[in-house]
Amino acid sequence: MRKIILAGNWKMYKTQAETLEFLKQFLGQLNETPEDRSVVLCAPFTALSALSKSLHGARIKVGAQNIHWEDEGAYTGEISGDMLRELGVRYVIVGHSERRQYFGETDATVNLRLKQAQKCGLIPILCVGETKQQRDAGETEAVIATQLEKDLVDVDQNNLVIAYEPIWAIGTGDTCEAEEANRVIGEIRKLLTNPNVTIQYGGSVKPNNVDELMAQPEIDGALVGGASLEPDSFARIVNFQPMA
Ligand code: PGA
Repeated sequence: MRKIILAGNWKMYKTQAETLEFLKQFLGQLNETPEDRSVVLCAPFTALSALSKSLHGARIKVGAQNIHWEDEGAYTGEISGDMLRELGVRYVIVGHSERRQYFGETDATVNLRLKQAQKCGLIPILCVGETKQQRDAGETEAVIATQLEKDLVDVDQNNLVIAYEPIWAIGTGDTCEAEEANRVIGEIRKLLTNPNVTIQYGGSVKPNNVDELMAQPEIDGALVGGASLEPDSFARIVNFQPMA
């Protein structure tokens, strides 16, 4: 059975105070959220502690947005798995396209971070996806296959979430058509050794398209940026109702 996971990626948004304000308005909207799905919030490092402390008993799990591949050391600005675990973190995003694009993340460092996350008992959410240019050139499948091949060397597929995030769909309002996202995710699944890996779709997931996306047989959840920042819209997303 594949797990359904709806995860918010807050990126570099929300102070601690804003986090607590979000929770005040969000938690009450989860009372009727079906048990078939997990809810994760990937917050900035500075909000993780406040988030964990406020979630006692709530069904939200805490996620981070990066992890270094060493246990500790002289790596200014980085964060270790133990530091995250101590704050109650369970998930960590690895290889988001913004890190690949702006911070020099490569498939080699993505692979190291994935392995370290698993070693520390965290579940990594690996992001893969193509640029607009690559899609237009018909390279989508090849690009993703290469990312998976390099990123997943010696990675345990029993403790892994993958997010298919076409880069042209991130933060643009230009969602990938549900059938097309379903098709690409089906292709990703064929490349895995474990067919039960949860594979999310990410890229402009909104309250008005989540039902259609989640109705697709291959799509096991969503990684949500902009629409996870606002309590009502993220609540609507986690409370999606798959269309028959
Ligand atoms: P978006 O971001 O929902 O704002 O498009 C998704 C992501 O970057 O994970």
